[in-house]
Amino acid sequence: MATVFFGTVVHTKSFSEFESFESGFLVVDDCGKIIGVGQDYQAWASNNPTQAKGLIEVKLSEYQFLMPGFVDCHIHAPQFAQLGLGLDMPLLDWLNTYTFPLEAKFSNQQYAQQVYQGVVETTLRCGTTLASYFATNHLESTLTLAREAVRQGQRALVGKVCSNCNSPDYYVETAEEAVNATVAFVDGVRKLGSPLVMPTITPRFALSCSKELLMGLGDVAKRFDLHIQSHISENLAEIEIVKGIFKTSYAKAYDDAGLLTNKTVMAHGVHLEDDEVSLLKIRGCSVAHCPASNTMISSGLCDVQRLVSAGLHVGLGTDVSGGNSVSIQDALLRALDVSKHLDFFKKQNIRGTGVAKTQDQNYIPLKYKQALYLATLGGAKALSLDQLTGNFVLEKEFDALLVDVSIVEKPLRRLSVDELVERFIYTGSDRNIVEVFVAGKRIKRG
Ligand code: GUN
Ligand code: FE
Repeated sequence: MATVFFGTVVHTKSFSEFESFESGFLVVDDCGKIIGVGQDYQAWASNNPTQAKGLIEVKLSEYQFLMPGFVDCHIHAPQFAQLGLGLDMPLLDWLNTYTFPLEAKFSNQQYAQQVYQGVVETTLRCGTTLASYFATNHLESTLTLAREAVRQGQRALVGKVCSNCNSPDYYVETAEEAVNATVAFVDGVRKLGSPLVMPTITPRFALSCSKELLMGLGDVAKRFDLHIQSHISENLAEIEIVKGIFKTSYAKAYDDAGLLTNKTVMAHGVHLEDDEVSLLKIRGCSVAHCPASNTMISSGLCDVQRLVSAGLHVGLGTDVSGGNSVSIQDALLRALDVSKHLDFFKKQNIRGTGVAKTQDQNYIPLKYKQALYLATLGGAKALSLDQLTGNFVLEKEFDALLVDVSIVEKPLRRLSVDELVERFIYTGSDRNIVEVFVAGKRIKRG
């Protein structure tokens, strides 16, 4: 049913443009599209008399506001099974010790169903209305993940992970198998017929893919005009090995296979060289900043301001389970933390790996409204889905959160609109997210 919300409405229009309507309104039509938003409902209703008829009215309290849903640009769905465990090693040891053995278990459909149901439920509860998921090498269980997102009504990109080398023999495929299964997966997702869930081409990372496999996946992406996701320049040891194998930069290894497009999102980019950042910019690629994971598995401090200033689209990723939290609200806070730490290093002129590329006495740390952008519209842009979602622009789909900052601790005084948002960002949790909507459909009910 078409609905009008009355109350505080906030969203972002760009990295540095935050917009709010105090005592505002937002109208959603029967199809889940936003058809009215702003300050003056009476003016809207008199200009749109037909649409204003018979609307269900929802009045928000003084401690509530509507905001766009969170976008998780990088999450490994199977790794939900080891969330918060095994965070005592850097990337390559972590993969071999914990993660590859875990992912190999997804040949079992029952296990996959159980974990995937849990990860979709939990991310939705935490306000993720759009997620870009890595699954595993297995075609069948990756289709299970896609079906689960459709069933629960989450907007998602889902990728069958591909890896054919430098992987354990119990969890590896040939290039031909990986490409064929990817094509079958794309077909399988299309047959689900959901407007919410789309396939995305997913080479695990250059280290576990031969040139032949990368090229094969680049061809499939081009043939079907698909989204692409992978990892780039996350960890120093990994980068050295990739450069040794491909005899070129990390970014160039992907570019040579046609995998850098305006529908590509690369996770991390902690240690990208300037020429790699330029190449990503030229190709229109995006970066998923994953601060929790970068800290947990000791990858380094990613200078997100540098990537944004270079003109890249940047969103946030939880990178479950390298990251220990499923929540993009947590990622947002961790992005603010990392930026404050970098600020300290830069102002103290402390040099070192992961900090060396960022020397800047004039560095300005990320602000909470900018981080909110990264968590919503920035993420939608990074996934090339901002024509559909990410903020409250007319004709976009209503992917939204109803937040109530009085749920855990009732504020001692009335808060301004900015303060409501600030309080939620710095102290809130999924308990404050009382309702979650995807394409106008209420998924979580307070
Ligand atoms: N690089 C290759 N695979 C992975 C993974 O599963 N997690 C992270 N954080 N980095 C990776
Ligand atoms: Fe990852």
